[in-house]
Amino acid sequence: MGPSGSGKSTLLHVAALLDPPSSGSVWLDGTCLSAADGTGLDDDARSLFRLRRLGFVHQTYPMVVALTPLENVMLPAEYAGMDRAAARTRAVDLLARVGLASHANRDVRTLSGGERQRVAIARALVNRPVAVFADEPTAALDTTTGAQVLDLLFAESRASGAALVLATHDPTVAARADHLLRLSGGRLG
Ligand SMILES: Nc1ncnc2c1ncn2[C@@H]1O[C@H](COP(=O)(O)OP(=O)(O)OP(=O)(O)O)[C@@H](O)[C@H]1O
Ligand SMILES: [Mg+2]
Repeated sequence: MGPSGSGKSTLLHVAALLDPPSSGSVWLDGTCLSAADGTGLDDDARSLFRLRRLGFVHQTYPMVVALTPLENVMLPAEYAGMDRAAARTRAVDLLARVGLASHANRDVRTLSGGERQRVAIARALVNRPVAVFADEPTAALDTTTGAQVLDLLFAESRASGAALVLATHDPTVAARADHLLRLSGGRLG
């Protein structure tokens, strides 16, 4: 948690291996994944680790509009090497769990913001990540829809055994966390 400009997105992007650190290093389970001095995994290994072990839910739920919601959820699983039939089964199950079974084959451009964010949650979980990072995942949603999306994100991360690392400036969202860390001027307090 922290005010605008305190470094929440930066920290999540570095921790989730989307951006390199400008100093220091990122470790998980005794492995150095990314480091400013160039040690840690090489680029290919780091991309593969991110794909297979980490999930990311963005504030603005980017989707591939040429693909259906089902195909959007399947995509990271297929990139990670899962065969198409298994990826489809996994994606169908996840879409059902986020309440979108009947929307699996819609045009993504016709989905509401809340529906898109639920697809994004399913997509983040498809490879059974050890950690899911969510950057203000409900900032673009109304209060009721945002609360429903958060319920799903917490419940499905827990069901998948994934740690959930969530950035927010909303105290009611922060109140749901098991641990609360405060960022100020780029530093954790
Ligand atoms: N690539 C970059 N190079 C230099 N400065 C950057 C870069 N990205 C972000 N910053 C700066 O770092 C600070 C933290 O930005 P960040 O996006 O992490 O904040 P935030 O806590 O996510 O804010 P918000 O709540 O508005 O999303 C800001 O001052 C921003 O301008
Ligand atoms: Mg931010």
